[in-house]
Amino acid sequence: MFITFEGIDGAGKSTHLAALAQWWRARDREVVLTREPGGTPLAERLREMVLHEAMDPLTESLLVFAARREHLLKVIEPALARGAVVLCDRFTDATFAYQGGGRGFNWAVLAQLETWVQGDRQPDLTFLFDVPPEVAQARRAAVRQPDRFEAQDEAFFARVRQAYEARRQAQPLRFAVVDATAAPDVVGTQVLSLMADRAGVQGAEGAARRGPPLDVPGVAS
Ligand code: TYD
Repeated sequence: MFITFEGIDGAGKSTHLAALAQWWRARDREVVLTREPGGTPLAERLREMVLHEAMDPLTESLLVFAARREHLLKVIEPALARGAVVLCDRFTDATFAYQGGGRGFNWAVLAQLETWVQGDRQPDLTFLFDVPPEVAQARRAAVRQPDRFEAQDEAFFARVRQAYEARRQAQPLRFAVVDATAAPDVVGTQVLSLMADRAGVQGAEGAARRGPPLDVPGVAS
């Protein structure tokens, strides 16, 4: 099962990834905990550039998708093929949200890159941590030095949030929306209970839904 975590910076998602990993390990499943951009040595180097160097939005989009291609081929696809649960902190929805929504970059170009890079591969489940931009901003201010995205204003994050919502509306069954304004323990309970609901369904259909290995016509792997 391929599970992704999404939301605007400051939504608090990362706290809950470890708890979800524990939940699966307690059920005797191998768990691969990873993140984007990143997850392989090359992709982590691309992450450094994307997070800290100014660049044009197409360049930025190409770099996040380049990192994703490496990550899919070297980590995600092999893990899914051996039956592991992959928990990924951000994936392609973040590209549509940040490069598409936040930066205003061409959505159709992103959709083409998505097909090139990942073929039919989509997460089986995406937790979307939803929080108003002003709440997220207050949380970010309290905890860390901002990178290129975290330093953006509230209007940027309002666009990011809208773009996440557009992705959700396009594929509603894939998403589980978590109200991330609540206290962390309440949010944590929500995540595990949504997971338990979904796992019931996935348990029955899991093998069939795992899908074929990555196979993108015209792109040698
Ligand atoms: P994040 O996942 O929030 O990590 P941390 O908690 O360590 O800050 O940071 C990744 C940043 O990268 C985040 O601001 C969103 C951005 N991003 C994109 O702009 N496009 C993408 O495709 C992805 C995966 C992330």
